[in-house]
Amino acid sequence: MPNNTQPDWDQIAAKFDLWLPHLAPVSETLLDALNAHAGQHIIDLASGTGEPALTLAQRLDDAADIVGVDAAPGMVRAAQAKARAGGLRGIQFLCMPAERLDFPTASFDRAMCRFGIMLLEDPELGLREMHRVVKPGGRYALAVWGRPESMTTLQWAQRAFEDRLPPDLHPPLAIATSLGDPQTLAALLRKAGYQNFDIQTHRFDYQFDSYAQYWDLLAASEILKTQLDALPEHEHRAVRDEVAGYAADFVRNGRLVIPHEYLLASGNK
Ligand SMILES: C[S@@+](CC[C@H](N)C(=O)[O-])C[C@H]1O[C@@H](n2cnc3c(N)ncnc32)[C@H](O)[C@@H]1O
Repeated sequence: MPNNTQPDWDQIAAKFDLWLPHLAPVSETLLDALNAHAGQHIIDLASGTGEPALTLAQRLDDAADIVGVDAAPGMVRAAQAKARAGGLRGIQFLCMPAERLDFPTASFDRAMCRFGIMLLEDPELGLREMHRVVKPGGRYALAVWGRPESMTTLQWAQRAFEDRLPPDLHPPLAIATSLGDPQTLAALLRKAGYQNFDIQTHRFDYQFDSYAQYWDLLAASEILKTQLDALPEHEHRAVRDEVAGYAADFVRNGRLVIPHEYLLASGNK
């Protein structure tokens, strides 16, 4: 991993799924933009525990040939297990870095990636590879987190940890939002060979019954394990309470409603 403040994806694979229900609205928008059809050959880069590939396989009723790739073996195993458990056919998951796709040029009808590109060791190379494997006339869609100020929960984490930990252990706000400005994303897409794409900003909310429910998910998913492990136990409570103070501004009708923003880039090759 280029940045040691990213979660250890391999280790947290089983727990990452706790976030998936909260990210479902992004899959819906991304898959609508991808406009995939039965019979097509489709790749999902940095597929993690299988999204949005698994959702698409269900949408197409297994009538497609979908490959998900991810660099973390634990994530790939988790995705494979879900495909098996769901009895899904026509979908496979492979351990493969997005920067070195072991597929022929122009071999896929569709290519997609949800919240992966900005985390790659080399985002430009990953984008180049994604473009290379799409057939002329084929379609791609990718989602990246938006501007730093719109990534609310990671902002809270950044504020809570920045004075408690050295910079190399801060939460990955900078890397997660590094392509969150539409002009930055557009420039990188052009550099990587993309033309005629569209970039739209979308918003969605994480919703929780209470702050405790949010914090429990954060802790159980181990998404900030690196940061919490670096602090003594008694500081965990202080971090929890500090973040509760930030979250208090986001209570609506008794529920915690936390807005986030992402960019969706899509187009035809
Ligand atoms: C935030 S998760 C997103 C997973 C999934 N796409 C989703 O939306 O649920 C980012 C994923 O990128 C993967 N990843 C990071 N660097 C990678 C690389 N160079 N090549 C392929 N996958 C990579 C991680 O292993 C992790 O599974």
